[in-house]
Amino acid sequence: MSFREELQRITEGRSRLEEPLEHHNTFRIGGPAQYYVAPRTVEETARVVQLASAHDVSVRMLGNGSNLLIPDAGVRGLVLHITRPLGHLELRDQEISVGAGVPLIQLMQFAARNGLSGLEWACGIPGTVGGALLTNAGTPTGQMGDCTVGIDIVDADGTFRTLGSDEFEFAYRKSSLRGSGRIAVGCTVALHPGDPDEILQTIKTHNQRRLLTQPVGTRNSGCIFKNDPDHRIGQAVEQAGLKGKRVGNASISTVHGNFIINEGGARAADVLELIAEIKESLRRELGIELQEEVEIWR
Ligand code: FAD
Ligand code: EPU
Repeated sequence: MSFREELQRITEGRSRLEEPLEHHNTFRIGGPAQYYVAPRTVEETARVVQLASAHDVSVRMLGNGSNLLIPDAGVRGLVLHITRPLGHLELRDQEISVGAGVPLIQLMQFAARNGLSGLEWACGIPGTVGGALLTNAGTPTGQMGDCTVGIDIVDADGTFRTLGSDEFEFAYRKSSLRGSGRIAVGCTVALHPGDPDEILQTIKTHNQRRLLTQPVGTRNSGCIFKNDPDHRIGQAVEQAGLKGKRVGNASISTVHGNFIINEGGARAADVLELIAEIKESLRRELGIELQEEVEIWR
């Protein structure tokens, strides 16, 4: 049987060919995935991964696509979309066991409803728990690695296990899961009791700040570049006079200099050109070497 036939059998006909990825990322940009499936269970995830490995088909994981730039020509291989079906939420004292497909904000709200503090920083981050584990999503007030005590994974060979806290590491916007071929299917976060009104107030404050400082409601993928120890990149872009600059239908946000906006119908090529121009300009004028935070698929 061919890879495609086997994939259809395992997923009961739910895999898709040439699935447009622009529907599956917050930039709303990008071409199709050669093969695409959104697994319904951990077991199905494992079987798909084993199949791909046996057929030498490359696998990419997709959460909410809120930290990605997908090329206009799309991608070859299999895109494994870890989304709501992998979505359990279970309270155990001060810990929550959560599926990787759960939106991070839903996890934060669940914690708040149960009087648990430690996830308020997540307000406004539109990713899944799986994506947050990979990128160590966060803000200066907290990040995913601060509360994660176990990660449930499907390994590149299709085996399921839980990594204990001595088996993973987090740093600014990265985790040791990256590049490992491991698929996060869930995790356990350890939180602490808090006053529900105070928790909600903190979330509200974070939300208001974001509304004032970021281009909320536009098509973007969050900050394009990582900050470095000496520079806030949004500020540096502003100093270089680049805010509002446009290529095709993409522009540098006039609200926050580290965001690029798809004004409607922008191509990945437009965004890449803007990225190259910002890098060149900040290198020349301020001597800053920028590193992308957004992940560019090729
Ligand atoms: P995706 O973008 O789909 O994927 C990101 C990476 O994770 C990819 O490498 C992908 O292959 C991998 N991946 C996804 N799911 C899995 C999985 N289950 N197993 C293994 N690998 C997986 N980020 C911050 O850190 N702080 C912020 O304040 C912030 N604000 C944002 C605001 C806006 C408006 C937007 C659009 C983005 C913002 N981001 C922020 C960026 C983004 O939301 C985070 O990086 C988020 O964690 C990405 O999650 P995702 O599910 O969208 O992952
Ligand atoms: N600033 C400007 N001009 C701009 C943008 C910012 O002068 O156009 C100034 C601000 O006034 C402030 C400083 O730069 O003095 C820092 O700005 P901000 O507080 O907005 O934070 P940031 O460092 O730009 C970081 C994260 C964001 C996160 C916010 C939460 C990075 C790269 N960015 O932004 O994360 O939401 O803190 O405060 O770490 C993301 O990772 O995608 C992301 C959006």
